[in-house]
Amino acid sequence: MKVLIVGGGGREHAIAYAVSKSPKVEKIYCAPGNAGIASLAECVDIQVMDFEEIARFAKKIAADLVIVGPDDPLAAGIVDVLEEYGLKVFGPDSKAAILEGSKAFSKDLMKKYGIPTASYEIFDNADKALAYLETSRFPVVLKADGLALGKGVLICNTPEEAREGVQQIMLDKKFGIAGNRMVIEEYMTGREVSVLTFCDGKTVKVMSSAQDHKRAGDGDTGLNTGGMGTFSPSPFYTPKIDEYCRKNIYKPTVEAMAKEGRPFRGVIFFGLMLTEDGPKVLEYNARFGDPEAQVVLPRMKNDIIDVMLACVDGTLGKIKLEFEDNAAVCVMLASNGYPGKYERGFVIEGLDSFDEKEGYYVFHSGTKKTGKGIVTNGGRVLGVTAKGENLKAARARAYEAVEWVRFDNKYFRHDIGKAIEEV
Ligand code: AMP
Ligand code: GLY
Repeated sequence: MKVLIVGGGGREHAIAYAVSKSPKVEKIYCAPGNAGIASLAECVDIQVMDFEEIARFAKKIAADLVIVGPDDPLAAGIVDVLEEYGLKVFGPDSKAAILEGSKAFSKDLMKKYGIPTASYEIFDNADKALAYLETSRFPVVLKADGLALGKGVLICNTPEEAREGVQQIMLDKKFGIAGNRMVIEEYMTGREVSVLTFCDGKTVKVMSSAQDHKRAGDGDTGLNTGGMGTFSPSPFYTPKIDEYCRKNIYKPTVEAMAKEGRPFRGVIFFGLMLTEDGPKVLEYNARFGDPEAQVVLPRMKNDIIDVMLACVDGTLGKIKLEFEDNAAVCVMLASNGYPGKYERGFVIEGLDSFDEKEGYYVFHSGTKKTGKGIVTNGGRVLGVTAKGENLKAARARAYEAVEWVRFDNKYFRHDIGKAIEEV
């Protein structure tokens, strides 16, 4: 089989790695890919929003399967375009990707089908939002309706902060048209967990759980980022919680989408908060998480191609998903300054030290190959992942491997997975 992967970050590198393990696959292409993916795939210089160009390329190479990684092209309908060209695609079409693309849609879906989530109101008018805040309890959470690079969520402790937030989202359009509408919701407390699932439109299969670390600094301080590190599985996601979520969250969500005429084929990523009143949905994503994929996929025993084809063909019910009985930790190596301003173009050394047979992986997020060698080319640069027999071992090994990689302005969190010490 020939497989084309769309995207060029750590998530797509982890997907490419999983695809490369499949004996069915003879060649992998990636658009646009990056310097790490280039060791597994032929990278082509086509950007992820250039749907027609991607479709023409996929036809030219006679791709048997196209896998779409990132949220933006999914929400904007890349799958619809590729399917018009007669291609087989893993990922939701635009009707289904709205689950991530519109927070107002997803909140209304959860309300209609009784799926547990924070209580909320939707506003398309700043005055009404401001009036509502007069009666709100604080903290309160403001969310721009549309996609905003993971930054469209503001947690406001005081009425002043919240009024300022409404101003930024709805009037100053800090997140662009994503802020034409907004959700104001109840603030929840508890531990967060990410659960990735495969869906074929009617059946859902649950992958091993993970936990992200979204803030830039140690001890969950600093700005929100795309994710500074992950571990899998989450010891806080117990079998009892899993059972509850399958019955009350995962299955109802997939069935609700089907009933709404929006069957979801691809990955639904459930962002959950384990509250005192039970697990509740923080958000849905319509794709693998980044860096959740970097800890979940290396632990998956199945041939990912079998699973993805079953999602596309509607035969997922026949698949038994299996994960290794171990753990993985991923520490993101970033450029100092991220998620604010940072420099790029520094040579990276030590990338050959990783041996996947020994359970060490380095997934590239923002790298580029140049005459000088592989250089930094993004805020998040590399995801260093290690497997171990348990979380403690995986964590020690990941932090050991972090030291193998050298580049100027290297920055990482020191406390990824530290929470497991509380178990
Ligand atoms: P989201 O993009 O919806 O995942 O939100 C980003 C982050 O904001 C989440 O990972 C949570 O840490 C936080 N968050 C979102 N919604 C809530 C909420 N209702 N209560 C508390 N924290 C929230
Ligand atoms: N790591 C969070 C995300 O991919 O949205």
